[in-house]
Amino acid sequence: MFVLAGSNSVLANHILPVLRDRYQVCAFDQETGDIEDETFLGKLFDETSPEVFINCVQLGNIEECEYKRDVAYRINGFAPGKIARLCKEKNALYVHFSTSHIFDGKKKSPYSETDEPNPISVYGDSRLMGEKHILESGCRYLIIRLYAVYGKGKSFLHDKFTRMTIDGSLQVIKNRFISPTYALDVASALNTLIDQKKEGVYHFANSGKATSLDFIRAAIDYYHKYSGKDLNISIYETDYEEYISPVERPLNNMLSIDKLVLETGINVRDWKKALDDFMKNNFFNL
Ligand SMILES: NC(=O)c1ccc[n+]([C@@H]2O[C@H](COP(=O)([O-])OP(=O)(O)OC[C@H]3O[C@@H](n4cnc5c(N)ncnc54)[C@H](OP(=O)(O)O)[C@@H]3O)[C@@H](O)[C@H]2O)c1
Repeated sequence: MFVLAGSNSVLANHILPVLRDRYQVCAFDQETGDIEDETFLGKLFDETSPEVFINCVQLGNIEECEYKRDVAYRINGFAPGKIARLCKEKNALYVHFSTSHIFDGKKKSPYSETDEPNPISVYGDSRLMGEKHILESGCRYLIIRLYAVYGKGKSFLHDKFTRMTIDGSLQVIKNRFISPTYALDVASALNTLIDQKKEGVYHFANSGKATSLDFIRAAIDYYHKYSGKDLNISIYETDYEEYISPVERPLNNMLSIDKLVLETGINVRDWKKALDDFMKNNFFNL
């Protein structure tokens, strides 16, 4: 039995169909069960005895994490520890998703799994706390670090399009490097990692290099191509240093996928191809 927490998340929307083709899966959302609730988790583990527990839950809004610090540390930091200890007890594999925000973004090239974390926000720090608790538990784990995940559901990409259509404009940072990641490709990579019985920390992203500006411009082009409508949006290009935000974010969010490619042989498609596929087949079918 596989158990998945966060069944309404963008990632789960792509992971669940892949898993359900092959395994018996018990998936729950926040209404069914709160991952902060130890009694609920204990009962869930007793009733399902999971072979694999996949956690797609997060408090992912970076601003919200700053003003709800306690909630951020509880969901992103302490809850993964509780789950990891239960996985240890039941000898289950714990699949956890983490983020490039555990790094400070000062490196000039993509981050690898062995780079030293140094978070600069509550979000990043709470996610790093989650990773540390997992390692301390002694459970079998697969931690997959991601950044800028889009897919079916309300991802950051839909937020950007909503903002663009309301305001008719968008301010985009031209010197921040990101790792655009289609959730469908995360699901496929996870499937391979599980099949190959991999454990440890892995980074995943679609391949290639992109700034936030490259990504938004490409998304708008595909929008025009597949909707036949002209959005008529003004893009204001800005440098990271001029961008006004209440929270500091890493300037470089690129994740190296060399380890994953080398160890699994996965062929990871380029970010533009993945985005094209998403805009063509899923963006308009929410
Ligand atoms: N999105 C990204 O760019 C990104 C980047 C790096 C890593 N990741 C990781 O990938 C995973 C999935 O991300 P996502 O963007 O797909 O997630 P998402 O769409 O933000 O969804 C998060 C889910 O967590 C659920 N949740 C929040 N608090 C909960 C609680 N106390 N108990 C149970 N469920 C709770 C929410 O339920 P409700 O819908 O009911 O509120 C929501 O379905 C996360 O682990 C995340 O850290 C994502």
